[in-house]
Amino acid sequence: MDINKIREDFYQFKDNPNLAYLDNGASSLKPKQVIDKVDDYYKRLGVNVHRGVYRLSYEATDMYEEARTTIANFINAKFEEIVFTRGASQSLNLVAQSYGMDFINEGDEVITTELEHHSSHMPWFNVCKKKKATLKYIELDKEGRITVEAFKKVLSDKTKVVAITYVSNVMGYITPIKEIIKLAHEKGAIVTLDGAQAVPHMKIDVKELDCDFLSFSGHKMCGPTGIGVLYGKYDLLDKMDPIEFGGDMADTVRRDSQTYKVPPYKFETGTPIIAGAIGLAEACKYLDNIGFDNIVKQEKYLRDIAIKELEKIDGVIIYNKTAETGIISFNIEGIHPHDAASVFDNNDVCIRAGHHCAQLITTWLNTIGTIRASFYFYNREEDIDRFIKAVKEAKEFFGSF
Ligand code: ALA
Repeated sequence: MDINKIREDFYQFKDNPNLAYLDNGASSLKPKQVIDKVDDYYKRLGVNVHRGVYRLSYEATDMYEEARTTIANFINAKFEEIVFTRGASQSLNLVAQSYGMDFINEGDEVITTELEHHSSHMPWFNVCKKKKATLKYIELDKEGRITVEAFKKVLSDKTKVVAITYVSNVMGYITPIKEIIKLAHEKGAIVTLDGAQAVPHMKIDVKELDCDFLSFSGHKMCGPTGIGVLYGKYDLLDKMDPIEFGGDMADTVRRDSQTYKVPPYKFETGTPIIAGAIGLAEACKYLDNIGFDNIVKQEKYLRDIAIKELEKIDGVIIYNKTAETGIISFNIEGIHPHDAASVFDNNDVCIRAGHHCAQLITTWLNTIGTIRASFYFYNREEDIDRFIKAVKEAKEFFGSF
């Protein structure tokens, strides 16, 4: 993989060749191929889908629905199992608001973990509170990992839903999800997966995983902001009620009755995120072209170098030394993560500091927050050099107070 060639696809590196963009967990940069595709839709068409009885609208509809096919193929799903949403958060909420509110009853159990992003855990906390169900947590091991053994301890005949992350946005651990899904299914429970940090970084096959729902966002995988996906097994989507009502999702509407279209359309109310879907499909093609083997390899390569260099610096506490993905969470002893962040910025290094919308794991780590560096395929060794220089500078600057 020629990183320098790949970097030519990103305007930010042209404008600032020194930029070390290490906040890919929050959002990735968008390549010109995706921007051009979105631009093309707006310039040539820019009209609505499913409604217009004219050529421009037919073409926009084709582009929008072809995008659904591309994205379905990308994760080995069926066309009708891909619901477009605003992002992973909306997808995760949709499952809880619809499936959770209709199929969870008093006394049922929902299993989650302290590794969850707020968008994965909070919707189920709400469902459990409203439906008088019990929310159970998988006890994390001493590294902060989810294990199959710990999952077995909370799984019971009362378990109805497992709401769990595939890759933690703070710790970067990969959940042993296949075994968990198999065990959950044996108990008749369904599994809703937060794939926001997984889908951009590894090849996902929903059929092989056998997950019931998978949520992810476009903007973390080279696609536009404002578009996300809810994958759901068709029979589940079919028995779920929509949570938003109105334009495009309705089938028949009478004074005393209303019916809805079939999935995925019954969940896509109003004018859909047309340009977003088209852009996301282009991002899928772009990532497939780079190749997930290359993506995994580059992230691991950078991560290993960064960990080795961080370990040499006194006072650096790394929370996830053994993680499999390109996420490093750490602190510099005695320095608030937000203070440190300003020094990174001065060095053209973009990182994220704080609780990363995952307060349960921050509490578990017994800290107020962490500094998080998160890599993607377009990062290179020079970015790590700049990053390590910033860590040393932050330590020197704030350590002297
Ligand atoms: N969920 C995103 C992150 O982890 C925003 O930074």
